[in-house]
Amino acid sequence: GLPESVTIYEVGPRDGLQNEKAIVPVAVKAEFVERLVAAGLPVVEATSFVHPRWVPQLADAAELLERLGPDGRRHPVLVPNERGLQRALDLDREHIAIFGSATETFAQRNLNSTLEDQFAMFGPTVERARAGGLDVRAYVSMCFGDPWEGDVAIEQVVAVGRRLLDLGASQLSLGDTIGVGTAGHVRALLEAFNGAGVPDDLLAVHFHDTYGQALANAEAALRHGVRTFDASAGGLGGCPYAESATGNLATEDLVWFLHGLGIRTGVDLAALVETSVWMADVLGRPSPSRVVQALAG
Ligand code: HMG
Ligand code: MG
Repeated sequence: GLPESVTIYEVGPRDGLQNEKAIVPVAVKAEFVERLVAAGLPVVEATSFVHPRWVPQLADAAELLERLGPDGRRHPVLVPNERGLQRALDLDREHIAIFGSATETFAQRNLNSTLEDQFAMFGPTVERARAGGLDVRAYVSMCFGDPWEGDVAIEQVVAVGRRLLDLGASQLSLGDTIGVGTAGHVRALLEAFNGAGVPDDLLAVHFHDTYGQALANAEAALRHGVRTFDASAGGLGGCPYAESATGNLATEDLVWFLHGLGIRTGVDLAALVETSVWMADVLGRPSPSRVVQALAG
């Protein structure tokens, strides 16, 4: 049956903003995160400790986290390697997310690594993070297709995902980085993970909405048994190293859908919409979310 409640893992400040060309002032980012928390989102991924040359928008990660204060569990940060982990430890962070690739090409383009070498990069990073008591989430990107390689075999995604979990991650987020997945593919991938000994409660889903399938895919995952859903306020987002990627599933669309089923999220939809309208104004273009458009006063 359906659950009474689910967890929304908000990625707007990180996945949403990382793709924006014009640098958003750090004070605005802090206000964005704080408004999302005030709207009831339990987890708000705040930023990334990646190389500032790779993602200039998030070069102010340390300053942002200092403004947000010490609530390290609520605000995970992306960390690709030991250098990134050191930056996180220096600020007493308690929750990081590593981000692996299911494909060779994206490993090279996003991590400057090979598919195989990414594990050697993440291994010591996760080990040291866990030894320091940090919680570690692992993303796996290109789970449903890759702009350079085309189809991605389910077995390959499961193999990469298993290895990331085995490094010591507590949750695996399955990324449809370019938004090409469909509901049947979602069910098949989840089945394959279950068959490889990974239960649904270790899995999260991370859908981008390029083909307008993100919400249908989220429903497929919900009905399969997944209880953690990544989403981005207002549908912001994309990956600067995957050109065809558009925004994530809009948090508002997800909340409207879940509340319609009577499933609790803890989110105040009106406050969330107000936040996305404000951010759309900052960025100078309207939110692509239909729910935001419908509810915006
Ligand atoms: P690299 O150039 O191979 O790094 O980049 P390196 O280890 O050779 O080091 C080169 C220099 O970078 C050194 O400095 C290092 O200290 C420095 P130098 O000695 O030349 O002065 N350096 C760093 N500085 C700051 N922070 C660090 C760091 N690491 C090294 N963490 C690297 C390799 C992984 C760092 C690079 O490729 C990178 O930063 N990639 C990040 C790309 C990214 O952020 N992509 C977007 C996030 S992923 C995503 O959006 C998908 C997701 O949403 C899920 C989905 O949708 O599928 C999560
Ligand atoms: Mg993403």
